[in-house]
Amino acid sequence: MNFTMNTSEIILPFNKEKKVSWRSPSNIALVKYWGKKENQIPSNPSLSFTLSESYTETSIFYKKKEYLNAASLEFRFEGKKNLPFQNKIEGFLKKIIEYFPFLTELQLKIDSRNSFPHSAGIASSASSMSALALCLCSIEKKHFGSLNDKNEFFTKASFIARLGSGSASRSVFPYAATWGEIIENSISSDEFASVLPFELNPKFKNYKDAILIISKQTKKVSSTAGHALMVGHPFAKERFILAKKNLKLLLSALKLGDEKSFIEIVENEALTLHALMMSSNPGFILIHPNTLKIIEKVRDYREKTGIKLCFTLDAGPNIHLLYSDNDSDEVEKYIKKELVQYCENEFWISDKMGEGPMEIL
Ligand code: DP6
Repeated sequence: MNFTMNTSEIILPFNKEKKVSWRSPSNIALVKYWGKKENQIPSNPSLSFTLSESYTETSIFYKKKEYLNAASLEFRFEGKKNLPFQNKIEGFLKKIIEYFPFLTELQLKIDSRNSFPHSAGIASSASSMSALALCLCSIEKKHFGSLNDKNEFFTKASFIARLGSGSASRSVFPYAATWGEIIENSISSDEFASVLPFELNPKFKNYKDAILIISKQTKKVSSTAGHALMVGHPFAKERFILAKKNLKLLLSALKLGDEKSFIEIVENEALTLHALMMSSNPGFILIHPNTLKIIEKVRDYREKTGIKLCFTLDAGPNIHLLYSDNDSDEVEKYIKKELVQYCENEFWISDKMGEGPMEIL
């Protein structure tokens, strides 16, 4: 697919400020993207569930620049100017100028806010970068007549989001998405994510994700730095083979509604991710004693009750508990009674699989 535009001229008069807004969710990877090549190409394919309650809302106010030297970007996060974020976004916009050449002619004001507290320790790059990418695609669609096809629109948004943050590529699709070339899906690509090549088994469509916040502290090692440590990692080759194998098995479980295999693969992926971190050079540890405590308790609970509750981890100490909505009364009672004591300030977020991003009109 070719995502460049063949015009660089804004064709409409832009004396009045215009606005586009999107709400885009975060996602939780079940098969983890860990390790990348040049230009945000993943070293292995990944798969995630799209969330619903954890999202970013971004608005871009834009008008044609009055003077060529006018500042072109002002960024506000939760109503306040935020220079570190602004610099990051400025760098990103420069990187994607060939895909949106009209950006050189626009003056932008970007407003962004998250549904979850900034200090919750939840990585927000997936929701924020996908929301931004969707807004940019909307500007293209509105003024250049391209991207009218829904599939083309979301595929370009995924491609652009990937250049901002790899995991963001998967957030633009409903329920579940894969990113990275796999033989099981002929439309799959390393450059953008896509929906599953089959209808998700109804058993998984109502899955919930309880995000247990173990620590709100900023991570000592960022995901980007962690990815870099996969270059020359002694287990890299085997890891990339294992990810492909796990993805294949997970696709089959998601199709058939095989919750037993689902649990085995998802927990294996979570523990493998952190094992890779520990065995990097230098090695690092992002999980916390309370992370381990909860893992132990979840496994005990599953064995005792037969309820199919499992865990996954992001690149940090927080735990995502996955379970069917049919079990949510039981599980949530258990979380409140036995698990919140291990969370920072007893904080947890009740999330669920969602329908993907939404344009705010
Ligand atoms: C452990 O997408 O945050 O969450 O591409 O450098 O922005 P960058 O990394 P990022 O890495 C996510 C890592 C992960 C696994 C995953 O989401 O697949």
